Amino acid sequence: MLETLNPQPQDKILQLIAMYRDDPRQNKIDLGVGVYKDASGLTPVMRAVKAAEKKLWETEQTKTYTGLAGEPAYSAAMIGMILGDGFEARAAAVATPGGTGAIRQALELIRLANPAASVWLSNPTWPNHPSIIKYLGMPMAEYRYFDAAGGGIDFAGLMADLAHVQAGDAVLLHGCCHNPTGANLNADEWDTVAKLLLARGAVPFVDLAYQGFGDGLQEDAAATRMIAGLFPEVLIAASCSKNFGIYRERTGVLIALTSPERKAVVQGNLNFLNRQNFSFPPDHGARLVTMILGDEALRADWMAELEEVRLNMLSLRQSLADALRLATNSDRFDFVARHRGMFSRLGLTEAQVNQLREEHGIYMVGDSRINIAGLNARTVPILAAAIASVAG
Ligand code: LMR
Repeated sequence: MLETLNPQPQDKILQLIAMYRDDPRQNKIDLGVGVYKDASGLTPVMRAVKAAEKKLWETEQTKTYTGLAGEPAYSAAMIGMILGDGFEARAAAVATPGGTGAIRQALELIRLANPAASVWLSNPTWPNHPSIIKYLGMPMAEYRYFDAAGGGIDFAGLMADLAHVQAGDAVLLHGCCHNPTGANLNADEWDTVAKLLLARGAVPFVDLAYQGFGDGLQEDAAATRMIAGLFPEVLIAASCSKNFGIYRERTGVLIALTSPERKAVVQGNLNFLNRQNFSFPPDHGARLVTMILGDEALRADWMAELEEVRLNMLSLRQSLADALRLATNSDRFDFVARHRGMFSRLGLTEAQVNQLREEHGIYMVGDSRINIAGLNARTVPILAAAIASVAG
């Protein structure tokens, strides 16, 4: 049987991790996978996570199964963090293995509810979005998003494409910190898009993987909250990998907003999908998050550290934009300072990206997405000089 299998295409982001690891050069720079790193290159365990782990180790009495949806306290804490108060009556939710698990379950829910629904994706988007949709055999469509020349949003293109959304289609929106471009809609643009989608009868499907990495914990949830208040049905796939730094614990949540009358049936379907795919969701990371969000001191400490992380990335953005101005003697890359989140798409060709890797040991995704957090004060000028030499 297994001889019938064909090789699968490699995930371009994960492939880079291996290439970087196998590169013997001492001065190599990793700007690939979206993992936060401090100035020394370490992805630290956050202080509040360590403290919660210690407390959990001391107090945990059992590791027997939780519910299929995970612990209700985790869902409630995540709904509160993402949406604020007032959504409990409309919100069904399940814990999932990471943000990817939430995306997968959301897609399966869409397929279960309406197999004919197309899922609309921004062009570009995180490559695993189309990959999972294709794997599930679901109809898919694209909307323009990025203005590669200016590093901003192609808003006219986006609106023109989304005008073709059919009633019942799901439109995947990056709630903040767009991956891979780093370019984000402003509040007015969000309003305009939301009104169009509402008029088209679309179901917004928000991917929120970087809350707290852009403009702040509350600010990064603003678009999601606006959409939650406006639409009768919304799907939200959120990840704790980045903002809690618990990547390998696989901690995510899928929230489905519906009417209070329909909530129980939607919740039952979410539970069903968890049962079909993996039964019970991972608990350790979810429990830590619940403890942190529910404890005033731990929460304050976590928010303070998250804010340090965010400000560090903002300052790296500014230094890189400044260094690129100097190195290229142009304002071509000024958008790097305007972008938000971990990523910026630089607008280099694949050949230039390859040259940076081969000649300078600088690793970025083939579409020229860089992970800002992979930089530090020492490497910013090195990157700027290398970019100027290949693209100047
Ligand atoms: C990324 O885009 O680099 C992250 O979301 C990690 C991943 O799984 O691809």
